[in-house]
Amino acid sequence: MKAWISAEPGGPETLVLGDLPEPVASAGEVVVAIEACGINFPDSLIIQDLYQTKPPRPFAPGGEIAGTVLAIGAGVAGLAPGDRVIARTAWGGLGARVAVPAAKCARMPAAMDFIEGSALLFTYGTSYHALVQRGRIAAGDRVLVLGAAGGTGIAAIEIAKAFGATVCAAVSSEEKAAFARDCGADSTIVYPPGPLDRDAGRALGAAFKEFGGDHGIDIVYDPVGGDYAEPALRSMAWQGRYLIVGFTAGIPRLPFNLPLLKGCDVLGVFNGGLVANEPEVAEANIAALLRLYDEGRIRPRVSRVFDFADAPDAIALIAGRGALGKLVVRVGGQADG
Ligand SMILES: NC(=O)c1ccc[n+]([C@@H]2O[C@H](COP(=O)([O-])OP(=O)(O)OC[C@H]3O[C@@H](n4cnc5c(N)ncnc54)[C@H](OP(=O)(O)O)[C@@H]3O)[C@@H](O)[C@H]2O)c1
Repeated sequence: MKAWISAEPGGPETLVLGDLPEPVASAGEVVVAIEACGINFPDSLIIQDLYQTKPPRPFAPGGEIAGTVLAIGAGVAGLAPGDRVIARTAWGGLGARVAVPAAKCARMPAAMDFIEGSALLFTYGTSYHALVQRGRIAAGDRVLVLGAAGGTGIAAIEIAKAFGATVCAAVSSEEKAAFARDCGADSTIVYPPGPLDRDAGRALGAAFKEFGGDHGIDIVYDPVGGDYAEPALRSMAWQGRYLIVGFTAGIPRLPFNLPLLKGCDVLGVFNGGLVANEPEVAEANIAALLRLYDEGRIRPRVSRVFDFADAPDAIALIAGRGALGKLVVRVGGQADG
């Protein structure tokens, strides 16, 4: 089976197009013929052995897919060959076919195409869990989204707007600010690419505080970390919620006195942990997201679709801070054999 293979740790340039053994559906699994693979920042980490999950080599990266069920393993109920599904795969999405637990598949709504479908679960699932279970979002909340034009960031904007929040999108360029506004952000802040010196950090904190007003920011959604985290934490409302989602700009060290002074919660968000520990909550989240999709309140923002032959370029673009919204690799019809 054709696949992009990570045979040694390294960047996207180390991926090679080759053959992997044909997947087989074990008990509880289905084999899916992949039509499209959504690219996420963790794809750039997993091939470097920098992600929490370390698959045995050789493996194909690709953490979420849309496709058609080809075969089902023993004990699988509710799915049959021919069903159109979306699934989080952790890895294996950049190949022709993948075996995935049936419990991790969701049926695609009739109106959804494979490109959109492959761009929903990873980022929207994370942002829904972050804002709803961890952030206890409510209508009227003032929500600051960092790295807001990225995959998780755009999903956070759309979900926060669906819950009636006021959203400020913080990003590193005017182009990203325009994209975030187009996806529903009420206002934007353009921050320097970093690292930030003391003055730049203070200036950014002042901009965040201006968005929060006298009340302060109820929720900070932070997939970025680095030097952006402390100015955001300093801008929180009393009993606000700071959501730790990721560290694309590095893992920050934060003064412990700030959560005390704000009476705020600093909350870890780990959607993979939710799936493992509270699968019924994760499943209900996906059902809620599909309802929001059907109602037209969220829509995966795919800015670019790559041919299968160019899949490493998609991973390089996201790793290099260049992606707007979601990137998708078209697999169906291109990775046969
Ligand atoms: N906790 C969870 O359950 C969970 C689930 C999914 C993803 N994540 C994590 O969330 C983070 C974001 O994922 P994503 O899919 O949204 O990624 P993404 O689409 O690449 O967006 C991340 C944003 O980070 C910003 N950034 C700042 N410094 C950067 C740098 N040095 N390199 C690249 N980007 C940089 C960029 O925005 P600006 O240029 O505007 O700053 C970029 O748009 C990742 O760390 C990922 O591992 C966590």
